[in-house]
Amino acid sequence: MRTYYCGEIEANQIDETVTLCGWVDRRRDHGGVIFIDLRDRTGIVQIVSDPQRTPESYSDAATLRNEYVVRISGKVSQRPPESLNSKIPTGEIEIYAHSIEILNAVSKQLPFSVSSDESESVREDLRLKYRYLDLRRERLYGNLRLRHEVVKAMRRFLEDEQHFIEVETPILTRSTPEGARDYLVPSRVNPGEWYALPQSPQLFKQLLMVAGCDRYYQIARCFRDEDLRADRQPEFTQLDMEMSFMSVDEIIALNEKLICYIFKKVKNIELVKPFPRLTYREAMEQYGSDRPDTRFDLKLVDVSEIVHDCGFKVFTDPIKNGGKVKILPIPQGNDAISNVRIKPGGDIYKEATIAGAKGIAYIRVRENLELDTIGAIKDNLSQEQKEQILEKTGAKPGHLLLFVAGEAQVVDKALDRMRLFLGEDLGLIKQGQINLLWVTEFPMFEWNPQEKRLEAIHHPFTAPYPEDRGDLSKARAQAYDIVFNGIEIGGGSLRIYQKEIQEQVFTTIGLSPKEAQDKFGFLLEAFEYGTPPHGGIAYGLDRLVMLLAGEDSIRDVIAFPKTQQASCLLTEAPSSVSDRQLKELYIASTYED
Ligand code: AMO
Repeated sequence: MRTYYCGEIEANQIDETVTLCGWVDRRRDHGGVIFIDLRDRTGIVQIVSDPQRTPESYSDAATLRNEYVVRISGKVSQRPPESLNSKIPTGEIEIYAHSIEILNAVSKQLPFSVSSDESESVREDLRLKYRYLDLRRERLYGNLRLRHEVVKAMRRFLEDEQHFIEVETPILTRSTPEGARDYLVPSRVNPGEWYALPQSPQLFKQLLMVAGCDRYYQIARCFRDEDLRADRQPEFTQLDMEMSFMSVDEIIALNEKLICYIFKKVKNIELVKPFPRLTYREAMEQYGSDRPDTRFDLKLVDVSEIVHDCGFKVFTDPIKNGGKVKILPIPQGNDAISNVRIKPGGDIYKEATIAGAKGIAYIRVRENLELDTIGAIKDNLSQEQKEQILEKTGAKPGHLLLFVAGEAQVVDKALDRMRLFLGEDLGLIKQGQINLLWVTEFPMFEWNPQEKRLEAIHHPFTAPYPEDRGDLSKARAQAYDIVFNGIEIGGGSLRIYQKEIQEQVFTTIGLSPKEAQDKFGFLLEAFEYGTPPHGGIAYGLDRLVMLLAGEDSIRDVIAFPKTQQASCLLTEAPSSVSDRQLKELYIASTYED
């Protein structure tokens, strides 16, 4: 069919006759001479046809339109100096076509322009409906390629350098609790019974460790029925790993090597090891978030101790009720941020209140460390308290100190939002900056106010620190998340491998022994047959690739993603099914249109 790919032709092939196949990216008619940009997955090459030099192809060239699929033979020629194009690798040459064969024409108007020359922004629903056209465009195809390179690097490192084996685990399975709703599949042969699609391969990978597999990995599809966002899809892919006989530090060290290997292979970037680590507590204290964006330095400062008896009720009341007062100190904030932005109606005020804060108090630090504040703080803070605040925040002239008071969670959430907002707004993030860090020592559980019970923060198979086993409800988990520029790209833990501890954890999250036995009896039983200490991690592959590609949404690194409504606009899934099918599955719908 063809002798070369379009992007491969080089200047040293001048006078050679070549045959190429591809799509018409653009056709230009320059007063009798027709230029065609021919595109395939390797790039673009310029084809020329004119009535003098190539009369045999000229009439065919004239009929071509964008996105026709063609096969073209011709002679490689040097481009004249005025038409050299340094922007593309084949920019020194062009091909005089002696034959043009149309393999497939375009018979409908294209919903949008595909040409790599067009930077037109197209509505996302249209892009998703005609995904095969969108994927022809350079940016999306580049993302698919990058994704492939990332997976290839993962496989090379894990298989060739670390002796992992890939094992596939079932898709039709029992529910694995990862905190989301399950997608369910009815069983025709077991009337009234259901499979759940895996939220992750968690239990199977642990059972593979019981089986003695030692080092497992899988590029695993996971399914979670949860509210969707730019970095969440109902089905997504994990790099899932599990290892036996390794400590947290050993698992982290191996994973740092993996990440460095991927960055080197796909981006030629040398990352510095070891990556910084923060405990959950430190992360919450300093950033108000368990996935801090550490590309910029603004750190929160807790001043509850200093202001707890200051007489300003906005501060003292929440502290009395177990809350706190924290400050976001902003160097040069005095000049950069006006009062209008902090007061009701202002953009920073809005960020704080979306997160539940009642408002923002502030102090501006002037020359000679004079403080400029709103009335209530001015009148209620003693000179000593003001000095302590300056000392604790390290504030200098020019600093703006933004205070939020309230329930601990709300304060952290509001200041985290304000911090991220101002990081962008003040241009504190340098282009191309890469910050990876580990967050460790998460609490085992958090309170779920709706269900009025403790809930596992990671998942209920995560091991507590041995020294914390006395009161499990307050224990720290041997868990670790990896955060890339403020986005959680992976998380894992050492697992429980002793039946009694697993049973205690189930009890702590409110599972009765019977429920635990019904749901996880197979795991508890496996623990009785010789289970090695083990642990693992899973990365969100889509998120990692999104960040490496510099995209804002994981939809742009997934070939056929779903919308925010979890539907596929291309195939129109999900869709209704026939009554016959439902009957076969013993299902009746209660949904009324
Ligand atoms: P976790 O639930 O933290 O851990 O998931 C691991 C990583 O998967 C990614 N992720 C998602 N990506 C896209 N869309 C989603 N809906 C989505 N949900 C999660 C995130 C996350 O860090 N079994 C454990 C891992 C382990 O303990 O080994 C697990 O699944 O990047």
